[in-house]
Amino acid sequence: MNKVLNNLDFHKPVMLKEVIENLSLKKGETYLDGTFGAGGYSRAILESATCQLYAIDRDESAEKFAEKLSQNFPKNFTFLHGKFSECQELLAEKNITELDGMVFDIGVSSMQLDDKERGFSFDSDAKLDMRMDQNSFPSAYEVVNEASEIELASIIKEFGEEPKARQIAKKIIAKRSEKPITTCRELANIVRSLYYGYSKTDSATRTFQALRIFVNCELDELKAALASSLTLLKKGGRLVVVSFHSLEDGIVKSFLKKEAGLDQTFSRYQPIDEGKKSPKNFQLLTKSAISPTEEEVAANPRARSARLRVAIRI
Ligand SMILES: C[S@@+](CC[C@H](N)C(=O)[O-])C[C@H]1O[C@@H](n2cnc3c(N)ncnc32)[C@H](O)[C@@H]1O
Repeated sequence: MNKVLNNLDFHKPVMLKEVIENLSLKKGETYLDGTFGAGGYSRAILESATCQLYAIDRDESAEKFAEKLSQNFPKNFTFLHGKFSECQELLAEKNITELDGMVFDIGVSSMQLDDKERGFSFDSDAKLDMRMDQNSFPSAYEVVNEASEIELASIIKEFGEEPKARQIAKKIIAKRSEKPITTCRELANIVRSLYYGYSKTDSATRTFQALRIFVNCELDELKAALASSLTLLKKGGRLVVVSFHSLEDGIVKSFLKKEAGLDQTFSRYQPIDEGKKSPKNFQLLTKSAISPTEEEVAANPRARSARLRVAIRI
């Protein structure tokens, strides 16, 4: 395991040790890494067990990392370009209908965030974009310049949990009537102008998060990926999900709670109606989410909000 971790000095995959331990990898089994990124998890999986690994990413720029890994593991690794909501179809094209484990590292990668030209970062003069798949539509530029005030307010409120969503939407509309809002920095400054005083986090953070989630349909993608685990995982197969904010973790938590049969409250004064009980599809391996260690957060501050949940298909 240590050898695996040391080999990943080019990129810091979050909670890698916990991901690998919880997948419980075995020789000859078949796994899916639904969020390939720079391939940190994929490489560690392939170096930990002689298995078949399929990896998906919607971002074409992930392919250069995948090519490198394919050269090292030509018989064991297959990269599939696409959305993880379509993992059943993508795997079926390779005649794969069952898996022993699935892992999802939800959200944006550090490569996407750090590449200023991708228009994710609020301290950039690049054009607003935020698409993980650069062939998709719309980009953040179109949303910011074309959505109505009501639509903008609801996106920023729902996906950013931003208390000033309505004021921000109003100001965006006023500013774009003068000229289109083109760069990330212009949008960030519009949001910042509505906040006064010092705050630890940049006041534009929530608006940028909201637009990114909307542009990439991130929450619907996550729901679809979780639903596909019910069909794809064999009995005993493991689902491991790492998420980075409460909206994502809330979706994972309530899905697992429901599928583990833990979301039902029955009155103790009435006989239990067996017909109303939903079938148990998962067993939770831990009651609550696993957090990164203090050492990991110190070495990689981006890991601080990560939460890992793991369950076994039954
Ligand atoms: C946090 S990074 C994963 C990093 C990876 N675990 C590693 O170790 O390098 C998330 C990746 O998932 C991809 N992604 C996010 N949502 C996706 C979706 N719905 N379908 C396919 N890929 C997605 C992003 O493009 C990004 O490359």
